[in-house]
Amino acid sequence: MHEPRPSNMHIAMVSVFPETLAVVRDVGVMGRAVRDGRLKLSAVNPRDFTVDRHRSVDDRPYGGGPGMVMRPEPLAAAIEEGKRLAGEGARVVYLTPQGRRFDDRRARELAREPGLVLLAGRYEGVDERLLDSQVDEELSIGDYVLSGGELAAMVVIDALARFLPGVLGHEDSAEEDSFADGLLDCPHYTRPEVYADRSVPQVLLSGDHAAIARWRRKQALGRTLERRPDLLERRENERVLTADDKGLLEEYRRERLEVSRRAIEDGVANREEATRTEGRSRDDGASEVLE
Ligand code: ADE
Repeated sequence: MHEPRPSNMHIAMVSVFPETLAVVRDVGVMGRAVRDGRLKLSAVNPRDFTVDRHRSVDDRPYGGGPGMVMRPEPLAAAIEEGKRLAGEGARVVYLTPQGRRFDDRRARELAREPGLVLLAGRYEGVDERLLDSQVDEELSIGDYVLSGGELAAMVVIDALARFLPGVLGHEDSAEEDSFADGLLDCPHYTRPEVYADRSVPQVLLSGDHAAIARWRRKQALGRTLERRPDLLERRENERVLTADDKGLLEEYRRERLEVSRRAIEDGVANREEATRTEGRSRDDGASEVLE
């Protein structure tokens, strides 16, 4: 057995459902990172910091209304414990639909923090004074409401851990992934060479590494244009689209046009052929009736 390497980051999740952390702690790339000591994950349950008989973490909202609000005192104590585990300099992040949108850029930045405390709320929300006094940042993973912040916290953990040194092997480097430079990923293929009547693009079988790299870049640019034009626009505004990229995009556009033109031609030809065959079989039918 090799010695675990020193941890690169310690993340503590504050949650009334600490067992949910197992989803990222035990399996796949995250599981390996935890076993190798590159990432330390802890869960802190605010219920363990309550002092009342019922161990209550929530209470009714001032001003009335439905639902319950998380009480500040147990959360503050749990965050304190999270900081003790993750390191006193740990940044405290609250997961909420009201937060700033989490993205690839923020994942890279957070991966450089020495430690994090991720606060996952439940119920209607968290007492605002706790957020004002204890939380450094609020993050949302998208414009929808989850029943708690745990899944959002785990999304953040998974996304940022990929940028910790050594978590991904070089063969599956984060730099090769979607968004590595603000673009979607290119398509991927494995054996068999023909599947569902579709062949693997010839260039990928050519062994010509430069041509393959060029093709992949062109597909990444083209897909981004078709599926997420907003991402491409941002690159253009930031003036990071090179002349080569623009050339590849133009080539992609031309190729797509050519494919559509051919599909239309084939469609017309097929329809003409179908009409001819239909005509013939109608004639056959007619002659049968007449016979
Ligand atoms: N908690 C509930 N919904 C959430 C979301 N969309 N993002 C982050 N935290 C949340």
